[in-house]
Amino acid sequence: MPETPRRPADRTRRPQSKAKPPAPARATKRTPANPQEGAAADGERLQKVLAASGIASRRAAEDIIRSGRVKVNGKIVREMGVKVNPARDNILVDNKQLAQPRRRYIILHKPSGYITTMSDERGRWTVTDLVDTLERVVPVGRLDRDTEGLLLLTNDGEVAHRVMHPRFGIQKEYHALVTPLPTADATRALGVGIELRDEDGKMERTAPAQVSLLPYKHGEQWIKIVISEGRKRQVRRMLEAVGCEVRRLVRVRLGPLVLTGIPKGSWRELTPGERRELFVALKLTNQEMPTEEME
Ligand code: URA
Repeated sequence: MPETPRRPADRTRRPQSKAKPPAPARATKRTPANPQEGAAADGERLQKVLAASGIASRRAAEDIIRSGRVKVNGKIVREMGVKVNPARDNILVDNKQLAQPRRRYIILHKPSGYITTMSDERGRWTVTDLVDTLERVVPVGRLDRDTEGLLLLTNDGEVAHRVMHPRFGIQKEYHALVTPLPTADATRALGVGIELRDEDGKMERTAPAQVSLLPYKHGEQWIKIVISEGRKRQVRRMLEAVGCEVRRLVRVRLGPLVLTGIPKGSWRELTPGERRELFVALKLTNQEMPTEEME
C-alpha cells in the first residue's frame, strides 16, 4: 500500500510538489461553487476576495481596505480579516461593484493519504494542502483518503453540479489492484449491478458498470472499472461485495478528462481544449464558457 502521511496538529508546512499556477486572467460573472461547504459558510477574508477578483495583490488589497475605499453592504470597512461572501454580500471598491472571481478548473493528481475536504478538525492532510489558488476552489465529488488519482476542483458551481448529477452520466474510470481477481461470475455481477446498502440502510442496486482486466504490467494485474454514479466508497464496496480486497484504487478518468502527465501530488489548470470537452460533455454551451477560456 502507498504510504499514508499523517499531518501533525501543529503543522505549518505545505507539501512541496505543486505545479506553478498559471498567470491570472480577467474576471467574469459566474455562479460560485457551493457556498455552504467548508470555510465559505463563514465567508472569505475581504482582502482575499478583493485579490481573487483581480483588482490587486493580497498586500495591495489590504492597503485599499485600510484607505477606506471598500464598502461591504453599504458600510466602509477598514479593518483586516472581515469575512464576506462574494455571492451574497454587496462589495464595492471606489463605489464600483467588485467583479466575480475568475473561474478556475483544476485537475489534481491526488495521492493516497489526503482527504477530500476543505479543512479537517483532526489535522489530517486535505487536498487543499496540495492546491494553492487565489480563488477558492472546491473538490467536485470525493475520493476516499486512500484513493489516488484525478480530482477536479473548481469555483464554477454549475460545472460541479453537472459533473456530480447522475442525469449527465459522467463516467468515472478507476483502475484497481485487487486480491483475488474477480471470477467470471463476479465480473458479470459487477457489470449488471449489485445490491449495496446505503447510509440510510436501504439496499440499492448499482447501475451497470464496465469491468475488464487491464494488460498485465510490472508483475501486477489491475482491473478497470467504469461507473457513472458517485455513491460513497462505491467502487470499494462493489469489489468487496464480490469478495475482492482492494489494495490500490486510482481514478484515471472523469468524463473526457484523463490523468496523464500530472505527477502525483501536482495539479494544473485544464487546457482550453479540455474545458471545451468538459463543457460539451456537461451539455453547457459556448456562451456559458468564460470568454477568457475560449481559444
Ligand atoms: N469509489 C470508491 O470506493 N472510492 C473512491 O474514492 C471513489 C470511488
